[in-house]
Amino acid sequence: MPQSQASYPAARFRRLRRMPALRALAQETQLVTGDLIWPVFVRDGHDVADPVASMPGVSRMSVDRVVRAAEEAATLGIPAICLFPYTDPAIKTEDCAEAWNPDNLANRAIRAIKAAVPEIAVMTDVALDPYNANGHDGLVRDGVILNDETIVALVRMALVQAEAGADILGPSDMMDGRIGAIRGALEAAAHTDVAILSYAAKYASAFYGPFRDAVGATGALKGDKKTYQMNPANGDEALRLVARDLAEGADMVMVKPGMPYLDICRRVKDAFGAPTYAYQVSGEYAMIATAAERGWIDGEAAMMESLMAFKRAGCDGILTYFAPAAARILGRGRWF
Ligand code: PBG
Repeated sequence: MPQSQASYPAARFRRLRRMPALRALAQETQLVTGDLIWPVFVRDGHDVADPVASMPGVSRMSVDRVVRAAEEAATLGIPAICLFPYTDPAIKTEDCAEAWNPDNLANRAIRAIKAAVPEIAVMTDVALDPYNANGHDGLVRDGVILNDETIVALVRMALVQAEAGADILGPSDMMDGRIGAIRGALEAAAHTDVAILSYAAKYASAFYGPFRDAVGATGALKGDKKTYQMNPANGDEALRLVARDLAEGADMVMVKPGMPYLDICRRVKDAFGAPTYAYQVSGEYAMIATAAERGWIDGEAAMMESLMAFKRAGCDGILTYFAPAAARILGRGRWF
């Protein structure tokens, strides 16, 4: 306890909690719509939105619907939308060639959004899993996830996304050296102003389950991702990864999942002061949304509390499926 802290009854902490005005003045952390990045799932077709069973309130949307979602996001003041494609299993191959097809679903969505809503920032996913027959983020040979060969593929993928107009690239694959390789390729191709938000500290987590349903990777994935995603037991390693990715040219860094790793968010922000984001992942969303659906918790309150926690832990922003719902609430005025 700081020395200057008076004791009871001179100090009564409840004085500043007595009324909303005093609570507002004493509030240390703010959550604003400008903190939110909205991840959305894209599918083929026209004017379709099919619900993701394990994520109540979330749908896979056709490109035209995603454009409408981007317009809605811009109206709400959400600064960025992040695209995840649901790929037809027939297109998935071992060499993942669809990943660098300039006309693949993700790239078509980028172009359509940038044409209709140029003011919103479009973020992408740079990883091979949506296109990989075996569901892994990297190329696989004899059961081994190949690092250096995967980087070559990721660079091709990143370049077509930049070409399509992406504002922020999100390498989520956890291969070593990919940030430097992508940054070098972007510079060489005159995409000097494309930002990289590195999934720097991404853990091998059970909380990605509903996402893998949403992108159709659940059945495809052979084995687990423990040889490239982090051990949940490690914290120092996260700092080394962030240091490495910043040194290689990342503009922003991410901790993922979010709520079970708030200690990592705080350590990363304190150590580097770089723009730091948490991904409140599909399993975290599902827990809150499903409990709310059953009437077991107040969904809005739990959502807002969870998002505030990321800000209090030092994050500059949050990737969250709650983005539009939270933005609507924040648009009505003060919540806390
Ligand atoms: C894969 C990727 C995953 C997520 C984002 N990109 C899943 C995984 O690593 O298996 C998870 C997001 C979520 O659960 O919401 N490149």
